[in-house]
Amino acid sequence: MAKRLEGKVAIVTGAGQTPGDTVGNGRAISILFAREGARVMLVDRNLESAQETQAMIAKDGGTAFAFQADVTIAEDCQKMAAACAERYGQIDILVNNVGTGGRDGTPVQVTEETWDRVFNINLRGMFLTCKYVLPFMEARETGAIVNISSIAAVCATPMLAYKTSKAGVNALTHTIAMQYAAKGIRANCIMPGLMNTPMAIEGISKAMKIDKEELIKRRSKAVPLKGGMGDGWDTAYGALFLASDEAKFITSVMLPIDGGQSARIG
Ligand SMILES: NC(=O)c1ccc[n+]([C@@H]2O[C@H](COP(=O)([O-])OP(=O)(O)OC[C@H]3O[C@@H](n4cnc5c(N)ncnc54)[C@H](O)[C@@H]3O)[C@@H](O)[C@H]2O)c1
Repeated sequence: MAKRLEGKVAIVTGAGQTPGDTVGNGRAISILFAREGARVMLVDRNLESAQETQAMIAKDGGTAFAFQADVTIAEDCQKMAAACAERYGQIDILVNNVGTGGRDGTPVQVTEETWDRVFNINLRGMFLTCKYVLPFMEARETGAIVNISSIAAVCATPMLAYKTSKAGVNALTHTIAMQYAAKGIRANCIMPGLMNTPMAIEGISKAMKIDKEELIKRRSKAVPLKGGMGDGWDTAYGALFLASDEAKFITSVMLPIDGGQSARIG
């Protein structure tokens, strides 16, 4: 049976991960894409972490290489796109997975430093990677961009900076989808909900000084679908579909992967 991304070249940003017990979204996406036949460029500002992902893919028999870049720096994004095209000859898929949160709250509580950091990483980073990757897609009149947003973009949450930056990700995706549709380039979002990933579990339990097991229980209880929280593989399977030709008629979709959390209205 043909692999679902056979012959494709993908860039995944945030392809390393926060250390922890489970697999992160970016790592799971990278591993799954390689399993499905894509050659994958693993971009992370933490090179060692991206190299760990590379080693996992190599063990699986896949093709990938790690590349150090900070997506908030234009020069890094330019070099990233050029290095991918030079190494693999093309760029078919861009997954913008880098994202962050923390020290959030009301406008009174959020510092300017936090606001700028969250917007730089979550939104400016995606603008910059798209800026430098799109010309390569445009030249071949084909491409798929998958941006990792969050259901925070559309649900009530007390995290002002995180929510508004992710709402910006949805708006950026919508605009790019319309600007490039006639060129055969698709742009879609995934909005993960409560996931059992190190970014969420290890990150939040440390920041809020909550016991990990207690946090897992609390988050799982908030998910309508039996089984509790999702995981990195749930995000990865959504990204695989949207990046593949199976989704060739799908653009500007904001896909919740959240066990029904965002559907619980009223
Ligand atoms: N885990 C959840 O519950 C959840 C829910 C909704 C949305 N998300 C989104 O999922 C995405 C991340 O998921 P993950 O599990 O891969 O997170 P992760 O923290 O495990 O991995 C993110 C990677 O990005 C890298 N990174 C951070 N800033 C960078 C920068 N400026 N340039 C380059 N690399 C950088 C980090 O080094 C890290 O390896 C984010 O966009 C996040 O908002 C997660």
